[in-house]
Amino acid sequence: MYRLAWFLGEGFGIQAWNPASAGAFTGTNARDWPKADLYVDLTSSLERAGFDFLLIEDTSQVDDTFRGSAEVTLRVGLWAPKSDPLPLVPLLAQRTRHIGIVPTLTTTFYPPYLAARLLATLDHLTDGRIGANIVTSGSELAAQNYGYEKLPPKDVRYRMANEWVEVMKQLHQSWEPGAVIADVERGVYADHAKVHPIHFKGEYFACRGPLNTIPGPQRTIPLVEAGNSPAGRDLAARYADAMIAQCHTIEDMKAFREDMHARLEGYGRDPAEFRVMFLCSPVIAATDDEARRRRDAYKAWRRTDAGVEYMLWYMEHVSGIDFGRYDLDTEVSALIAQINADKEVVSSLAKMFVGEEGKTLREVAQTREHVEDLGLIGSTKTVADKMDALMEEVGGDGFLLYMPTTRHQIAEVCDGLAPILQRRGSIRSSYPHATFRDNLRSF
Ligand SMILES: Cc1cc2nc3c(=O)[nH]c(=O)nc-3n(C[C@H](O)[C@H](O)[C@H](O)COP(=O)(O)O)c2cc1C
Repeated sequence: MYRLAWFLGEGFGIQAWNPASAGAFTGTNARDWPKADLYVDLTSSLERAGFDFLLIEDTSQVDDTFRGSAEVTLRVGLWAPKSDPLPLVPLLAQRTRHIGIVPTLTTTFYPPYLAARLLATLDHLTDGRIGANIVTSGSELAAQNYGYEKLPPKDVRYRMANEWVEVMKQLHQSWEPGAVIADVERGVYADHAKVHPIHFKGEYFACRGPLNTIPGPQRTIPLVEAGNSPAGRDLAARYADAMIAQCHTIEDMKAFREDMHARLEGYGRDPAEFRVMFLCSPVIAATDDEARRRRDAYKAWRRTDAGVEYMLWYMEHVSGIDFGRYDLDTEVSALIAQINADKEVVSSLAKMFVGEEGKTLREVAQTREHVEDLGLIGSTKTVADKMDALMEEVGGDGFLLYMPTTRHQIAEVCDGLAPILQRRGSIRSSYPHATFRDNLRSF
């Protein structure tokens, strides 16, 4: 058995809304994305379909660096606007009973006390179904929203993240088991001898403690980690319960999982309690032909000016290099030479374009995959077969599906694909445990 999770990749933000790029079933997303209904429908459908969790992305900036303005960002609705995911969580929990709900929090900007208190509160409100996707953030603009002049360098952000998790864990353990007595007859609520300040003083954070709310059903909060660099993998191996793996081939998938198992063992942890979730964007339809046609239509859109602009925007967003300023017919090798950047940036640019040096910038923008489909294209049965085969080969643990969030796509996955996988016993049909962590650890 393996696991499915859904990546709400636009966060609690504007979802697939434009039929030109997202197809004919975008519903009222353009108008209603800031309301809860779509996400309630999504989460209750995922629970019916046996998903382990919903992961809600988050960032906090309006990009105005692509071609020097926010014109493309706001015209197209790229990663903005976006609301805060945390208030959405209780609304989703109210309409579901079992599925894990995993919003994103950044360890670079959230003070750990604030995060620990929020998450303990949500652990109660969800009856033990909250998790947290911890990210270190990569946006200078976001850093400026939180009062930094510059984003701390990546190695510092990861060191901060390690310390941040440590503070949060200590806060969640600052009330010992048995500290809450709640004895109405004796009039005793809590035993102060079991509630302790943590007096944490680290390189980046200081926190006195104890937490001023009581531990929730899970006590500590299950963590998901998304960064795939060695520092990201180490953070996951030390503290997380699951991680997101971005792989291109089956060999990558195998190697990733093996690497994580070695790291977990290095931290004295049992790999069996950890989940590697492979990010993918399947294309599912009633028939194989229809799925291929849909894939082809998407690829054709990617070759249009709007499709090229979208990918250039995205490439700028992840690299900080404004590809919108360069001649689209420049070959990549010449482009790298033109970009007047420091050594580190040039080397990461070279990595970004490996194997594409002979293409023009336009060709790269037309063909680059945002997230891999991992070959998962076809009818519900075809995709189910391919998922089973991939997991058999890789050894586990599951897929994080990233698809446009429309009710049509939700139905294709939750009422088309998942029931087949459930009937085969490939994914869960029930949730035997009360908490997200316990369900994530065993079926
Ligand atoms: C599937 C996925 C989801 C992510 N979600 C977020 C997010 O919600 N917010 C964010 O700031 N970064 C997010 N990231 C970025 C990572 O946290 C990380 O900053 C990035 O992958 C670079 O770090 P790395 O070099 O360690 O991979 C996500 C990455 C992946 C692959």
